[in-house]
Amino acid sequence: MDKILGTINGMEFTVGDTLLELSYLIAALLFVVGLKLLSHPETARRGNMWAASGMGLAMITTLLLHKDANGAGISLTNVWIILCAIGVGAAIGWIVARKVKMTAMPQLVSLYNATGGGASMLVALLEYPAAVAGNIGSLLVTVLGLIIGAIAFSGSLIAFGKLDGRVGDIMKPFMTYLNLVLLIATLAMGVYIVISPNPPSEMLWAIYALTALSLVYGVMFVMPIGGADMPVVISLLNSFTGIAAAMAGFIYNNQAMILGGILVGAAGMILTLLMCKAMNRSLLNVIIGAFGGGGATGDKDQGVMKEITLSDASVLLSYSQQVVIVPGYGLAAAQAQHVCRELDELLSSKGVNVRYAIHPVAGRMPGHMNVLLAEADVPYGQLVEMESINPDMPGTDVTVVIGANDVVNPAALTDPSSPIAGMPIIKAHESKNIIVMKRGRGKGYAGIENELFFDDKTRLLFGNAKDSLQSLVNEIKSL
Ligand code: TAP
Repeated sequence: MDKILGTINGMEFTVGDTLLELSYLIAALLFVVGLKLLSHPETARRGNMWAASGMGLAMITTLLLHKDANGAGISLTNVWIILCAIGVGAAIGWIVARKVKMTAMPQLVSLYNATGGGASMLVALLEYPAAVAGNIGSLLVTVLGLIIGAIAFSGSLIAFGKLDGRVGDIMKPFMTYLNLVLLIATLAMGVYIVISPNPPSEMLWAIYALTALSLVYGVMFVMPIGGADMPVVISLLNSFTGIAAAMAGFIYNNQAMILGGILVGAAGMILTLLMCKAMNRSLLNVIIGAFGGGGATGDKDQGVMKEITLSDASVLLSYSQQVVIVPGYGLAAAQAQHVCRELDELLSSKGVNVRYAIHPVAGRMPGHMNVLLAEADVPYGQLVEMESINPDMPGTDVTVVIGANDVVNPAALTDPSSPIAGMPIIKAHESKNIIVMKRGRGKGYAGIENELFFDDKTRLLFGNAKDSLQSLVNEIKSL
């Protein structure tokens, strides 16, 4: 393993070094293939396995082949400590992941983000003295890794608390200014540490102050963001964790860490921007602006909502040819996915063509409706994305809107003053009949009225989605 193969820039390369670099390259390829497979629900599970095996390979080869600057491998004692830490972490991760409910996934992701950010922060803190002894570049990545890791750590913990209902929203206008001051102070301290000529022993106060400032900024940055905007923030923090891990990779000059971190950072940032685009909002608006309150024309009196009886709804659905179900946040809140599937199977058995229209930001997290319907074993083929189903809406006999609101609000297309103006929607209003299931006159996430509910073609079936669907299923069975 230690046979010297050659030198690059004066550095000797052994067989072991070459194998290590090769394993990192293979790991990087596995990460990329994994990410690609993760982009479709049907292949996502496999994608996870590919990416995890890439990480496993990188970890094993690092333990076996890594050498420090003096050519010494990892000591046996350290290997045991690392293996114990991996064992404990893997056991906790396994138990938590098996127990967690689908609806609590965002909380789990936040906790994982926090651990990643915290780890990068600790690496930067530990390696600071060595970084000072190195060049300015290594000091810069250490300081950046510390700041980003600490923000990701404390911010993710607050995000977890908010999603779990343990921390409330504090949206005070002065917080925007306070946060700006905090951010400037954090960056100024970072710059001071990088340019200071003092030895590390005299700079410890500054590095601890920077850690504290970054941790406080992470808390204050997430605190004012509206609870329902959390999915976007979690994705952003996920991206921060990736960037912090990449910085830690630079500190250790470890290609697998750098590549893995960059991939997570880039994927998180792309997802963040895609979510903002699907909501037709800028990232800045999500971070400093609270959504809701109603638009200028969004809240005008629209008239009366017309109700439909269970028997009328069951006849209408049973004698239709084309039915489109639009699931939304209310379906998830009511946990009505199984009974929704029962309705779909019942109608299909009567020869009705039933499909689901999936809006990219329906619900409260990316892929929320896909995950929910997969839980009820709805075949992927029945889930149709918004762009593909919209042309079919005029030919649809009945659109059943279950706990969805903003994603079918025509104001997005017709009212430029609406807070959701420009957001692409599922064009339920173009279908021949619309049945809307909701509990009452509650508004959606954007906090605005929906003219679809007052449309002449629309009939309301009031009640908790699960109860309404169950009653409808019973009624259709008794026809
Ligand atoms: P919403 O617009 O939030 O509307 C949900 C509707 O469901 C409400 O009108 C509510 O009316 C009804 N509802 C709530 N609980 C119910 C229950 N138990 N049974 C029956 N109905 C119930 O949902 P949407 O159409 O899915 O839109 C999602 C919104 O979230 C969008 O504005 C989107 O931008 C935002 N958002 C999404 C994401 C992601 S990534 N998905 C992330 C952040 C924000 P009642 O109170 O009258 O029942």
